[in-house]
Amino acid sequence: MIERLGAEIPRIGRVDYGRVTAVLVNSPELIPEVLIERAADFVKGPVLRVISRPVFGDGLLTSEGELHRQRRKLVAPAFAHQRMTRYSEVMQAHTSALVEAWRDGQELDVAEAMMRLTLGIVCRTLFDVEMPSQTESIGRDIVTAQSYAMRQIRVPFPLPQGKARAALGRLNETIYGIIRERRANPSDKGDLLSMLLAARDEETGLELDDVAVRDEAMTLFLAGHETTALATSWAFYLLAQNPRYFVRLREEGAPFALQVLKESMRLYPPAYALARSAECDTAIGGFPIRKGELVFISQWLLHRDPRYFEDPLRFDPDRFLPEREAQIPRYAYLPFGGGNRICIGNHFALTEGQIILNTIASSFTMELVSRKPARMEPLITLRPKNGIGVRLRAVGAG
Ligand code: HEM
Repeated sequence: MIERLGAEIPRIGRVDYGRVTAVLVNSPELIPEVLIERAADFVKGPVLRVISRPVFGDGLLTSEGELHRQRRKLVAPAFAHQRMTRYSEVMQAHTSALVEAWRDGQELDVAEAMMRLTLGIVCRTLFDVEMPSQTESIGRDIVTAQSYAMRQIRVPFPLPQGKARAALGRLNETIYGIIRERRANPSDKGDLLSMLLAARDEETGLELDDVAVRDEAMTLFLAGHETTALATSWAFYLLAQNPRYFVRLREEGAPFALQVLKESMRLYPPAYALARSAECDTAIGGFPIRKGELVFISQWLLHRDPRYFEDPLRFDPDRFLPEREAQIPRYAYLPFGGGNRICIGNHFALTEGQIILNTIASSFTMELVSRKPARMEPLITLRPKNGIGVRLRAVGAG
């Protein structure tokens, strides 16, 4: 059990996984050494780079060092504050359309609904296209490529690509097709792709070529929807058990939605661990680390640690009232990671999450269909194993 590990290793220590060992960094004051001060000693790892190459290429999530630094600079403007207005409109329109189709008393899997919603939003905000229906071949290809990426990222050796090879091939063709068309008729469609195509480093004149645009687009596409879907799904799971907070969402709007989202990501961090591999012999807090060793930080453990969160298992969005949030030790709460690899989409995700929570709560509350606690499936992200079944109750009805 991971909880026992936290009790055994309050600061830093080695965990024995049989054939491999890994170093758990479980103290907020040591975390900046890994993510900031000696970030150059800790890389995402050669294994991740090699195996995820067919999917992510040299995209932001997987590139390292100087290449990563250049890329991050080029991609960042796509997330600039002034671009968010357009993205928010898309988020709002898609969520409103979903809510309009819902009925009082209807039962549904909210985790699945959130996955489809965020996928629709990312298609529009990234490529300015409607989400293909699942019966269309591109819809099926996305599902195939995604499930391949999820399986592959869990194991440290290349899996046969099987059906995924053809699916990825067709997806690449589609993306390159969109890129070619946009290059031939350049215009700002207000989406992320327009920004990637127009990106240019002012000092060096560096631009993203087609392969780089494809890698970044695929990375944003996959990194950008599942995590947000999970954050909102777990939020609804917690809200359904604490119905008074549905009322506060309606009364207080966006600021409270942000508190709910942050508190949900405390208890159920969509990205529940950060992993790095040591590039060289080094040390963290004086603890020696050997070259090639795996180092990890568990948001799951930190976020549920009674040293930093009183009564940690209780869902209490008021922990994130601004004055109380300021009391949380730095690096005891890190749903988006930290340092130079901090999530580039964090503002995007928080905006999207707030819009989804507010829009849904203004028309519906939810009850859990099952009394059993949701089972968790910690793959690369923290998914609910069998979905989250809810019954919708229209606000004002019976
Ligand atoms: C609630 C939603 C989200 C969560 C919890 C989340 C979490 C994270 C975390 C923990 C990392 C750091 C991984 C590491 O250091 O090993 C990360 C990186 C990243 N995320 Fe997110 N993310 C979310 C939403 C998004 C969205 C909406 C996008 C894009 C539209 C996005 C794109 C990325 C990218 C490109 C990186 C790599 C950044 C880099 O290494 O420079 N994420 N995310």
